Amino acid sequence: MLVVDCCIRGEESATRKYYRAYLEKAGIPAEEIMVLDLSREEVASLDADGLRRRDDLCARKAFDDAMFAFARQFRDAEEILIAAPFWDLSFPALLKSYLEQVCVTGLTFGYAEDGACVGYCRAKRLLYFPPAAASSGRGIWALST
Ligand SMILES: Cc1cc2nc3c(=O)[nH]c(=O)nc-3n(C[C@H](O)[C@H](O)[C@H](O)COP(=O)(O)O)c2cc1C
Repeated sequence: MLVVDCCIRGEESATRKYYRAYLEKAGIPAEEIMVLDLSREEVASLDADGLRRRDDLCARKAFDDAMFAFARQFRDAEEILIAAPFWDLSFPALLKSYLEQVCVTGLTFGYAEDGACVGYCRAKRLLYFPPAAASSGRGIWALST
């Protein structure tokens, strides 16, 4: 399982405590969990130069480039848990930047001939621990493919 941890307040974060309790209760062995602590990673937001470089790499299908490390990891994960607090009626900008890095045409998704969007990710389930989960315990959302 890939845990995308966007709990910016670190060990003070209620969201982090909550998802850790969930993992413990679910009995998922530690060796099967890969925690990606976004606060400790360099997660660049896309800019014009980055987009140009990305478009060029995608056109050449050069998906082994370091630029796509997050996207490859996301595509290959068997299960994904995203944990992020509720900030300004949404989630922290850091998570949006991460999603920009992960949404790569031709690598994590593409289009069928009729124009329909097709996912290339291996995970059958994505759990989102949204803010409400931290305070009320009612907010786990599960998206299954
Ligand atoms: C920058 C910031 C923005 C926030 N925006 C909202 C909000 O729009 N609505 C809300 O109900 N709580 C908001 N909160 C409160 C947090 O959701 C709440 O403190 C939550 O427990 C933080 O999660 P954490 O303990 O995992 O960091 C905000 C907190 C911060 C720091």
